[in-house]
Amino acid sequence: MTRPHPAPRGAFGAAVADRPAPSLARVQGGGPGVVAPTLDIGVIGGCGHVGLPLAIGLALRGHHVCLLDVNATARAKVARGVMPFAEEGAPEALRQALDAGHLRVASEEADLAEAEVVLLVVGTPVDGHLSPALAAIHEVLEQYRPHLRDGQLMVLRSTMYPGTAEGVWRWLQAQRLQIDLAVCPERIAQGAALREIAELPQIVAGFTPAAVDRAAVLFASLGCEIVQVGPKEAELAKLFANAWRYIRFAAANQFLMMAEDLGADFEEVFRAMTHNYPRAADLPRPGFAAGPCLFKDTMQLSASTNNRFFLGHAAMMANEGLPQYVTARLRGRYGLSGRTVGLLGMAFKAGVDDARDSLAYKLKALLELEGATVLCTDPYVDDPALLPLGAVVAAADVLVITTPHPCYRRAELGRAPVVDIWNFLGRGSRV
Ligand SMILES: NC(=O)c1ccc[n+]([C@@H]2O[C@H](COP(=O)([O-])OP(=O)(O)OC[C@H]3O[C@@H](n4cnc5c(N)ncnc54)[C@H](O)[C@@H]3O)[C@@H](O)[C@H]2O)c1
Repeated sequence: MTRPHPAPRGAFGAAVADRPAPSLARVQGGGPGVVAPTLDIGVIGGCGHVGLPLAIGLALRGHHVCLLDVNATARAKVARGVMPFAEEGAPEALRQALDAGHLRVASEEADLAEAEVVLLVVGTPVDGHLSPALAAIHEVLEQYRPHLRDGQLMVLRSTMYPGTAEGVWRWLQAQRLQIDLAVCPERIAQGAALREIAELPQIVAGFTPAAVDRAAVLFASLGCEIVQVGPKEAELAKLFANAWRYIRFAAANQFLMMAEDLGADFEEVFRAMTHNYPRAADLPRPGFAAGPCLFKDTMQLSASTNNRFFLGHAAMMANEGLPQYVTARLRGRYGLSGRTVGLLGMAFKAGVDDARDSLAYKLKALLELEGATVLCTDPYVDDPALLPLGAVVAAADVLVITTPHPCYRRAELGRAPVVDIWNFLGRGSRV
């Protein structure tokens, strides 16, 4: 079997991420000056949160992009020029890409055979037992097998369990497909995708020199700086980055809970720690750390090391335990049985409409278990059970800022106490 194309190695065999291979010299730095060929690109998972902004970005740089997705509702919306989810700047950009004739929704799976570049960006979840759904990528490959052909470049864009790319490479070889395989994990933050896909350096790995070169040319056409590493290093760089973020949020959340339990004002502690003190300035604010990526990627990483990622599990306990903590504090301070609690924000983070794995729903369930009536509102999330903000504010005995959407800063929140673990309103957490 051909070996993966290694990244340049430094002292002690460590990968040197930012040392380009000579053949990449012409694409380093990317930017508008880079002359890249116009490519036919097929995006599997092209109507999803990662696939669609990337597809739009590539289409606006002159490539011809075809979207393949099993979600018929999302496909129909995109074909009509309607974004299936909120993303800054995307509605205009989508229409522009469609009008220019550079973006289209595939009429059938066979359209993939026309693509020179196949971008694979389907979900890679963990299951109900926190085990990675290892078959996710392979099932998709089997589905599209009839339309893969020699000469294509395949780019794995999903966040993957370590070793997945190697498994895909073995599968391609077993299928006797001469396809260049690259690993280029997505690192955007939802909501800022269109801006960030051009601004963030792009990690590029490949199993052949041609795969690295072709993927680098593709991403340089977006204006990205290229960071070349090996395939496993690329997988881990993405997973470590998300786990690190998750651990940092957990530290802030645990500090909040400790300060409250010790009878200290966390906001005062935070101010004292961070004011003009650079070594603590990067402490994040406490808050519900959730969503479709950080938690599941930390668990994927743990599963890949015999579930001995102790820091990752500790972070999970702190972050996932915060709704229980808030529930207990509310019970102690206001009582819960027979009370009405209003939750402001059901999205997993501010400014998006995505409620996947949002801890607001976990908090809701816990409060209801205590006998509280829970009224929920969110200006972005599409959920028929949600109420207008005014109705929630009018009926609630206590309000909780569950998602710090900017609109709540200016909103009339009435007289009920407001629990705000983020200190978003600047009045302290009051938990
Ligand atoms: N959401 C983020 O902010 C983010 C950021 C970086 C990386 N990632 C990673 O990107 C990957 C995708 O995440 P997402 O948030 O875009 O998920 P998503 O669910 O929004 O998108 C995945 C898309 O794939 C489609 N799909 C599923 N099976 C398919 C198939 N067999 N054929 C064609 N389409 C299929 C789904 O219908 C969906 O539209 C995951 O690995 C995730 O961890 C996500």
